[in-house]
Amino acid sequence: MASLLRMSGIVKSFPGVKALQGVDFEVQAGQVHALMGENGAGKSTLLKVLTGVYAADAGEIEFEGAAIRPRSPQEATALGISAVYQELSLAPNLSIAENIVIGREPMGPLGIRWSAVRERARGALSRLGLELDVDRPVGSCSPAIQHLTAIARALDVDARLLVLDEPTASLDGDEVDALFEVVGRLKEQGLGIVYVTHFLDEVYRIADQVTVLRNGTLVATDTPVAMPRRALVANMIGREAPPEDAAVARSQGPQGAPLMEAQDLGKRQSVGDINFKLHSGEVLGLAGLLGSGRTETLRLLFGVDRPNSGSLHVHGGAPTLTPRRAMNLGVGMLAEERKTDGIFPNLSVRDNMMIVAQVKRGWLARLPRSAYAQADGKKEELRIATPDLDRPIAGLSGGNQQKALLARWLIAQPQVLLLDEPTRGIDVGAKFEIFGLVERLREQGMAFVLVSSELSEIVHSSTKVAILRDRRMVGDAPEITEEAIMSQIAEGGE
Ligand SMILES: Nc1ncnc2c1ncn2[C@@H]1O[C@H](COP(=O)(O)OP(=O)(O)OP(=O)(O)O)[C@@H](O)[C@H]1O
Ligand SMILES: [Mg+2]
Repeated sequence: MASLLRMSGIVKSFPGVKALQGVDFEVQAGQVHALMGENGAGKSTLLKVLTGVYAADAGEIEFEGAAIRPRSPQEATALGISAVYQELSLAPNLSIAENIVIGREPMGPLGIRWSAVRERARGALSRLGLELDVDRPVGSCSPAIQHLTAIARALDVDARLLVLDEPTASLDGDEVDALFEVVGRLKEQGLGIVYVTHFLDEVYRIADQVTVLRNGTLVATDTPVAMPRRALVANMIGREAPPEDAAVARSQGPQGAPLMEAQDLGKRQSVGDINFKLHSGEVLGLAGLLGSGRTETLRLLFGVDRPNSGSLHVHGGAPTLTPRRAMNLGVGMLAEERKTDGIFPNLSVRDNMMIVAQVKRGWLARLPRSAYAQADGKKEELRIATPDLDRPIAGLSGGNQQKALLARWLIAQPQVLLLDEPTRGIDVGAKFEIFGLVERLREQGMAFVLVSSELSEIVHSSTKVAILRDRRMVGDAPEITEEAIMSQIAEGGE
């Protein structure tokens, strides 16, 4: 059978980085091909060469039997290659419908036919099994909805190859199921699908073929059956995987007065009944489904949103919080959406890392040079892959950007750190390192509130777990096991 796509000998360098060093990659029609590798391995770069975002330095691309060399995503789309990138390029002020058909709006004699726009958008969404208010501005939607909108847009053209770069990073279980159903349907229609993910389970659920990149070279390609989990991880990280270590010690009781305490805290239309005490050395896991109010809770705790009921005490006082005041009180927050809430793409990696320390000090007081050197330490500690911290952060791979944001908060040395999906987009090896780091800092007395869709992460790291259901905190998990937490999340639901 002829390949749908054949890339051969692809080379691509950036200043100081050989991102791809002669990579071969082949996709068959009607096949889901998982592309795996550590942060910075070259996955996104390979896909961007394919879709005309970058020009390769060397190598050939053959699509449906003909040599192609797309010079822009538009050209690639016209050829039948459609992509949803890691960094979604949505227009936040436009509606969901407008985002889906942007650039391809149905026109009538009086200009854009808005009813047809909505119709098309609803059609594209229904292929994903979604019914949404298509007039809502995309910027006001959750990351999950934004991602699904981008996927719907990619499906709105006549694509024969669909490229999905970490599509499930912001989706919850049901949405992942919905997406996989769509992927299955597209596969039956004969589409080839390239799928990048850091979730190993997904490979074994949907992939027909898996290719592993490491440091810009191809290390393995095979069927998932022929590459079981351990082999896959070993291929990715170039050594045997570390053994899963035991859960954290939870025996010791709370130490001293609470650093943070919420009593019936809530915000109308957002989240309510938040009650907890957080002491030094504790990790409070917030468990609940997507949309259960986890992110909203963190936003109240960091002063991004104002509560209108209950009270929040920090170090015993009850300040009216703003993010700035929260920072000065030793509270930090690693937000879920790095693109909107976190990254300053044009600033250097180092400046991005130093920004909280700078804000705490005041904009006018220069940080001493020595402070900036801390960034080098964090680069080593978190293994942030970049040749140069003084280049724009936009040049880092997705996972490495996330690590840089975490570094930012570690440099600021908060006493309470709120973590919203801290391992999103982070590779398997680095996940271990990040949770190891959380554990070390916890032992040194830092306190955390942790939100993660990965129950295993909550169970691994939390010293206690609070359950959120339908935007209310409904109590603590009696036991910190996946089963106990699951059944409490589900309880009361129909
Ligand atoms: N625009 C760019 N400018 C400079 N360097 C870049 C650019 N894009 C990628 N790189 C570098 O190329 C290498 C590969 O990056 P790439 O984004 O392809 O990794 P990835 O496998 O997608 O990783 P992740 O899992 O973190 O998304 C990295 O070292 C990255 O820093
Ligand atoms: Mg990437």
